[in-house]
Amino acid sequence: MIAGLATAFSPITIGPLTLRNRFIKSATNEGAAPGGVPSKMLLRHHERVAEGGAGMTTVAYCAVSPDGKTFLDQVEMTRDNLPHLRAVTDAAHRHGAAISAQITHGGCFTFLPQLSTGSPLSASGGFNKVGVMSGRFFKRAMSRADMEARIGEFREAALLAREAGFDAVEIHMGHGYLLSQFISPAYNKRRDAYGGDAAARAKFPAEVLRAVLDAVGDKLAVLCKIGVVEGFRGGGTAEDAAHVARVLEREGAHMLVLSGGMNVESTWQLFGSAMPNEARTQAASGLMRIATALQKQSEPPIKFHEMYFLEHSRKVRAAVKTPLAFLGGVKSADSVAKALDEGFEAVVLARALLFDPNFVRDLASGAQTNSGCITCNRCVVTIYHPSGTHCPIQPLPDPSLNATPAAA
Ligand SMILES: Cc1cc2nc3c(=O)[nH]c(=O)nc-3n(C[C@H](O)[C@H](O)[C@H](O)COP(=O)(O)O)c2cc1C
Repeated sequence: MIAGLATAFSPITIGPLTLRNRFIKSATNEGAAPGGVPSKMLLRHHERVAEGGAGMTTVAYCAVSPDGKTFLDQVEMTRDNLPHLRAVTDAAHRHGAAISAQITHGGCFTFLPQLSTGSPLSASGGFNKVGVMSGRFFKRAMSRADMEARIGEFREAALLAREAGFDAVEIHMGHGYLLSQFISPAYNKRRDAYGGDAAARAKFPAEVLRAVLDAVGDKLAVLCKIGVVEGFRGGGTAEDAAHVARVLEREGAHMLVLSGGMNVESTWQLFGSAMPNEARTQAASGLMRIATALQKQSEPPIKFHEMYFLEHSRKVRAAVKTPLAFLGGVKSADSVAKALDEGFEAVVLARALLFDPNFVRDLASGAQTNSGCITCNRCVVTIYHPSGTHCPIQPLPDPSLNATPAAA
């Protein structure tokens, strides 16, 4: 086995947690929590990843409050959901994998007209382009009281994750959700201590991290998912990301997961490739069809290649000593090996594991060296399919699993 690949199959310690290997299933909004309640589909999704050999799987995304949801059918971190969450974590543990909860607040990135706040919260106020589809045309700049309240929600969500049996939490600071609205120079126009250069923009996310570490950091691994490049004019650069990483390192993050791109402005950057037209017309919900059609207009011509964040992630690697997880187009033994050889401590895979949850096990045995995932991105628009998020070129999961709560 090539050197980097052998390292990938060695254990890794992340804060108080040790994983059996360095493969982490990336957060892929599973569309498997109707009304916010984790379903048997969610359980089965993560059980298959655990059976397939990954060191840790990630449940996505878990909203820290009802207002923090982007869509209706996302996991809500509530006490009522504890038995269902526990059923999901037990399923992963039965197969030797650890399990992480991606805890998130959407900020102004929400499609929910039901939001209790009149205008969604963000780093800065003004016109809310995402809100056009939900009638939430304006976003509101967060006051100190709003910030304290959100910090409290992240802390409570982390405590609930611990009670539910999770081994880790991943604080989502990328892709355009609330905390990345602070980090992004395109969203954050504040003139107080929370705006300005990249380090100042990372101040509020770092306060959230501190609260989560204080609450659970001695029991759970605390990861932060950040963007290494936002990918559009006026967006954050790799140099910004290096500053953000330093702030989070100083605060004590156990691991940083290096993603990039933004949901609204640069989906192509997030996935290293465009959404095919076919994916747009086949999107399961009307909202998704409108959203993806709008995004199409700003997409540059781009061709997928493996490890598409490598150049940017190297700059973050050079800036910090904190363990880093490499993400973005990892779908072969060679790219796993290269990521480890480049000095990243773990690899994070989304589409390759949606295509085949046994990919890790098969890499270990040598049965596969390249994923069969064709990065068509059609999985992205299955989030609201009755069968939940799935690979459209594999057999369709039984939708009845999605209609049954996980602990039923
Ligand atoms: C269907 C789908 C849903 C996703 N949902 C989330 C999510 O809820 N949270 C998140 O941080 N990233 C989400 N992502 C992005 C992935 O975690 C990952 O950053 C991206 O797919 C690149 O990794 P890959 O090349 O291994 O697929 C999603 C990706 C896919 C394909």
